[in-house]
Amino acid sequence: MIHNLPTPTDARGVAVSECKPSSLEDYERALYQFQSYFGDPTETLAATVENDPEFVMGHVFNASAMLMMTERQYIPAIQQSIVCAESLSHKSNDREKGLIAAAREGLEGRWDRACAAWDRVLERYPRDAMAIQCAHLMDFFCGDAVNLRDRVGRVIRHWHEGVPGYSYILGMQAFGFEECNQYDKAEETANKALEIERRDGWSVHALAHVMEMQSRYEEGKDLLQSRAQDWAPNNGFAFHNWWHLALFHIEHEDFLGALGLYDEKVIPEDSDVALQMLDATALLWRLHLQGVDVGKRWNRIADMWARKATVENGYYAFNDLHA
Ligand SMILES: [Fe+2]
Repeated sequence: MIHNLPTPTDARGVAVSECKPSSLEDYERALYQFQSYFGDPTETLAATVENDPEFVMGHVFNASAMLMMTERQYIPAIQQSIVCAESLSHKSNDREKGLIAAAREGLEGRWDRACAAWDRVLERYPRDAMAIQCAHLMDFFCGDAVNLRDRVGRVIRHWHEGVPGYSYILGMQAFGFEECNQYDKAEETANKALEIERRDGWSVHALAHVMEMQSRYEEGKDLLQSRAQDWAPNNGFAFHNWWHLALFHIEHEDFLGALGLYDEKVIPEDSDVALQMLDATALLWRLHLQGVDVGKRWNRIADMWARKATVENGYYAFNDLHA
């Protein structure tokens, strides 16, 4: 007798091909880490697929999350995860096949086509939180302001407070509004997100952008400082919000304050993370333009870039420009 087992779904009701129940729990944990920047989703997923090598979403999420680092050094690991996911196509559902195709586009450098592929998934599965965020981050890396707003805008009617992770969708939409110069809507949406999840660093970031754009420097400084206990400790995105705080210090010509943040928060130790090195470089450049002597900090960041140059040169123009 053939039993028709119910198709497993994730916490948002999105169908997942058959896997161990513990793998789905891991997936949810990795998704929270991805959305909140508390913890490392790739570490979680690597352990998950070791325990459940046929967990398609584990492989495809791992590949997609690594793509978001914008560094060539992850390409071999991304490639390996995609090959594992592709080898499971006989048991993948149509959404997973779409996500694998998007990751492959990203792997091969076609970031615009990766976003189009995530969009095709979202047409049928608007609550695929991983696809929304990957496309949003790619829009961010490509500077695609309209899609930062509208890609989220196309799916948000399928979300509400009862759906886990709704606040993070609002946070992305808030940033999209800000990038499209709709500052009131951005602020309202980010505040709504923070009412649900006050530790959401991406929503705080959207507010910081609004305040920077509207020259509300004092308010921006207060916002970041007063909420630092929420968005900063153990958060992988905190360096960028500290960078924004340093910009508010620069606006007030408090260059020592900005340098203090550079040393203690933006890049307290040598880093191998391009996204962090970008902010360090950009902060030194702004201080340099203000006539501030930044001492040997240029040498240190130049050495960090030099260590990455052979592998990373020519992969992502924004990184190259800062290096
Ligand atoms: Fe920013």
